[in-house]
Amino acid sequence: MRVVTVVGARPQFIKAAPVHRVLRRRAQEILVHTGQHYDPSLSKVFFDELNIPQPDYHLGVGSKSHGAQTGEMLLKVEEVLEKVRPDLLLVYGDTNSTLAGALAAAKMHIPIAHVEAGLRSFNRRMPEEINRVLTDHLSRWLFCPTRTAVQNLEREGISKGVHLTGDVMLDAVLYNRKLAEDRSRILEQLELEPGQYLLITLHRAENTDDLRRMKSIVDAFNELSVPAVLPMHPRTRNRLNQMELSLSNPLVKVIEPVGYLDMLQLEANARKILTDSGGVQKEAFFLQVPVITMRDETEWVETVEQGANRLTGANKAAILEAVERFEVDFTRVSSVFGDGRAAERIVDHLMRDLEL
Ligand code: UD1
Ligand code: UDP
Repeated sequence: MRVVTVVGARPQFIKAAPVHRVLRRRAQEILVHTGQHYDPSLSKVFFDELNIPQPDYHLGVGSKSHGAQTGEMLLKVEEVLEKVRPDLLLVYGDTNSTLAGALAAAKMHIPIAHVEAGLRSFNRRMPEEINRVLTDHLSRWLFCPTRTAVQNLEREGISKGVHLTGDVMLDAVLYNRKLAEDRSRILEQLELEPGQYLLITLHRAENTDDLRRMKSIVDAFNELSVPAVLPMHPRTRNRLNQMELSLSNPLVKVIEPVGYLDMLQLEANARKILTDSGGVQKEAFFLQVPVITMRDETEWVETVEQGANRLTGANKAAILEAVERFEVDFTRVSSVFGDGRAAERIVDHLMRDLEL
């Protein structure tokens, strides 16, 4: 069996790694990197650390407007699919690379497997929501990390091909957690005391492209009275410059984006995590660290329902209040993301269905 996997952005390299480990034993996987993320700190570092093979095709699309980026990917993925003629196409998550891969395959009648299917924020202003909805409606296999995701699909009339597998990001955390502890020196390098600092990430367009929200968030960061570390996404760095906003709090260390092992080590030892990332919300939950999500809604509703995640939006007072007071009793929190064997289930389903 021949599988074309299309990836392009940081979280997709991380999600593809556990699936690749299982898939390579049972099928030929042809890896296509769209080039959506190209800085070494957003791309190469993950291939090196996670033992993902070099892409068979690198499309070099880079940063562009949504239409130009998705359009160029569509064109170039189609060329690869013409050449390779795979039995199926595998995509992850909700980026422009996900949608372009799915759209190219759908028009060529190549069946699509979507990992992380069924997630919904119900906010169509997010580019990710559009990418998810469309990809789900094009897919033949919809691998859902949670029950909520299965129910979301049911409400849209999709039940065929839907499988509850658990979350591949949990597979990745369980596989790499000990490695991170052994190999990462990030806490020593940054002189951070375990349990004494906040970890912050911020990059979602709904925050970075909105001056009012960015100003409120930056004001909150400037008022923090505990040490914090912020590996900054290039999008955020650019927007802060354009908006002439400055992070002037000496307690907040702004650093370049870090590799996955350093990130796991920073997450696992943080007092609390502040983020607008999808993946980081889940990792905080897996690693039992309270997470404050600077968004108005989340797809990972279970983390909020279980009291492990506090939504503050971009509200400065709410962010500072949560930093001060939000605590989580993890003895009362139960696992909702599976058992860390999602990748095996995904590959089993694909193999079984394609043999028929
Ligand atoms: C993309 C995804 C988002 C995901 C995020 C993961 C879409 C619509 N968005 O957002 O869902 O959460 O990846 O990190 O697909 N840039 C660089 N170097 C790079 C890549 C980007 O400097 O290697 C800068 C460029 O200025 C670019 C901006 O970041 O314009 C945004 O990049 P883009 O890939 O369009 O979206 P992300 O914000 O990374
Ligand atoms: N991540 C990383 N280094 C960083 C920031 C994030 O390795 O400096 C990892 C993080 O641990 C998670 C994934 O990147 O596995 C999340 O990606 P991101 O926040 O960029 O995107 P999202 O999940 O919001 O789509």
